[in-house]
Amino acid sequence: MERSHGMSTVALFLSALCIVSSGCCSPVNAMKMKKVNFTYYLHDDFVPPDVTAVAVAGANASVTGPSALGDVTVFDSILRETASNASAQIGHHSGLLVSLSDPREKFITFVTSITIPGYSGTLSGSCRINFTAPSWEEAINSGTGSFEGARGHLTVSAVSLTPTFPVLKYKAYLILPHH
Ligand SMILES: *[C@@H]1O[C@H](CO)[C@@H](O)[C@H](O)[C@H]1NC(C)=O
Ligand SMILES: *[C@@H]1O[C@H](CO)[C@@H](O)[C@H](O)[C@H]1NC(C)=O
Ligand SMILES: *[C@@H]1O[C@H](CO)[C@@H](O)[C@H](O)[C@H]1NC(C)=O
Ligand SMILES: *[C@@H]1O[C@H](CO)[C@@H](O)[C@H](O)[C@H]1NC(C)=O
Repeated sequence: MERSHGMSTVALFLSALCIVSSGCCSPVNAMKMKKVNFTYYLHDDFVPPDVTAVAVAGANASVTGPSALGDVTVFDSILRETASNASAQIGHHSGLLVSLSDPREKFITFVTSITIPGYSGTLSGSCRINFTAPSWEEAINSGTGSFEGARGHLTVSAVSLTPTFPVLKYKAYLILPHH
C-alpha cells in the first residue's frame, strides 16, 4: 500500500518534470513511465578455482568467517534463470560488500548486468542490509541499455545459504521510462 502509493507519486513527479521541461525545450513528448517486475537467482561459488567472492581487506577477513567493521569483500556473482545451478546464465551481480559495526549488517554497492526477454542492460544501486533478516531491499538508482533511467528496488531472499554454493532469489520492481 505504502510503496505503490510512493511509486505512483514518483512516476507523477517524473512525468510532471518532463512536461515542464518539454514546455521550454524542443517538442518532446511527455515521458511515459512503466512498471516492470521480474525474478532471477544469484548463484555464488565459494569453492576454488571459480570463486565468485573474495575477501580483499580486513583484520581477519574471510568470505564466510566472522566479520568486523571495515572488512571488504568483492563479488562477481552469477545470475541464473532459476534456483538450479544448471539453469541458463543471464548476467552478473558485481560489487563491494563492506562489514559494518553490527556483524549482521552490511553495506553493498553493486552493478547488475542482466539480459531477460525484452530487456538488456545494467542496474546500479546500493543498500545497507541485515543478512539475518528473511528478506531485504536494495535500492536501484540508475541503469543503462533497456534500463536507462530506471528507479526502484530489488527484494532479496535466501533460497539456500550453504557455505559452498549459496543461492539468493531476486525480485526486481522497477519504474522505467518508455524509450
Ligand atoms: C508484475 O508484472 C506483472 C506483468 O508482467 C503484473 O501482472 C503484476 O501485477 C506485477 N506485480 C507487481 C507486484 O507489480
Ligand atoms: C580471527 O578469526 C579467528 C578464526 O575465526 C579467531 O579465532 C580470531 O579470534 C579472530 N581474530 C580477530 C582479531 O578477530
Ligand atoms: C551445483 O550445485 C551442486 C550442489 O547443489 C554442486 O555439487 C555442483 O558442483 C554445482 N555446480 C556448479 C557448476 O556450481
Ligand atoms: C536483523 O534481523 C534479525 C532477524 O530478523 C533481527 O533479529 C535483528 O534485530 C535485526 N538487526 C537489526 C540491527 O536490525
